Amino acid sequence: MNPVIDFLNSHASVRKFTKREITTEEERLICETGERSPTSSNLHAYSIVSVRDAEKKATLAGLCGGQSHVAESSLFLVFCADLYRLKRLNEKRGYPFNGEYTEMFIIATVDAALVASRALMAAQALGYGGVMVGGIRNKPDEAAALLELPELVYPVMGMSLGEPMSPPKIKPRLPLAGLCFSEKYQPEQIDTAVEEYDNTIERLGYLRGRESTPENYPEFNGRYSWSEHTARRMADTRPSVLRPHLREHLQKRGFMLK
Ligand SMILES: Cc1cc2nc3c(=O)[nH]c(=O)nc-3n(C[C@H](O)[C@H](O)[C@H](O)COP(=O)(O)O)c2cc1C
Repeated sequence: MNPVIDFLNSHASVRKFTKREITTEEERLICETGERSPTSSNLHAYSIVSVRDAEKKATLAGLCGGQSHVAESSLFLVFCADLYRLKRLNEKRGYPFNGEYTEMFIIATVDAALVASRALMAAQALGYGGVMVGGIRNKPDEAAALLELPELVYPVMGMSLGEPMSPPKIKPRLPLAGLCFSEKYQPEQIDTAVEEYDNTIERLGYLRGRESTPENYPEFNGRYSWSEHTARRMADTRPSVLRPHLREHLQKRGFMLK
């Protein structure tokens, strides 16, 4: 149809890598392409910390909840929401700074996520693969200390990158009608789409053997597919899932005070 659309639609996360190294030129290309993302008011309210040091990657893997692909990646990028650079700029000019507003937190977080998304696409275009790592928010104090992040900077997500060990399996998505509405929000489209998605995920076996916290649902004998898996995910109150420490972490770093 269209090679760019085909490329975009070929996305799948990769968590197993060969030993092949991403070169420094390729790393630069990945970050430069990320930087082509739009940012709110062209503020560039994000930064990227790239990690290659094996020991540091191993520590980060632990901080991310023991995700081995972090340590095994050729390159681990940490995408941070960053208002520090802008604060410095205002201080130099003797202007007040309003980084504590929730709006500024959203701006910086969205900027970081947009850049991360494009950087992943750039890596994929170069024949590499990777996965975004929200696990970096499991232990954000420790991650911030390890990466020496200043105030007004927090890690939004990490990204493990490397050459895929094998071609990734493309995961089907919720039928479009369940999340793309014409002219107004149409909740009546949701149930059919979810039912269809449950059928697809079940047929393709994506969640086979991946039943979440079965010990909490000993009576369950219904169909285990996306909606059951997702409902359990949303009902889960474990700190590793809800990360209740984040509010304090963010406020400590100067975000979301107003
Ligand atoms: C912001 C963000 C954070 C994520 N964090 C993790 C993570 O910590 N560990 C992981 O294995 N996958 C993580 N993922 C990957 C998702 O699980 C994955 O994108 C989703 O299941 C869809 O699969 P696909 O990317 O292969 O299509 C993350 C994805 C996003 C967008």
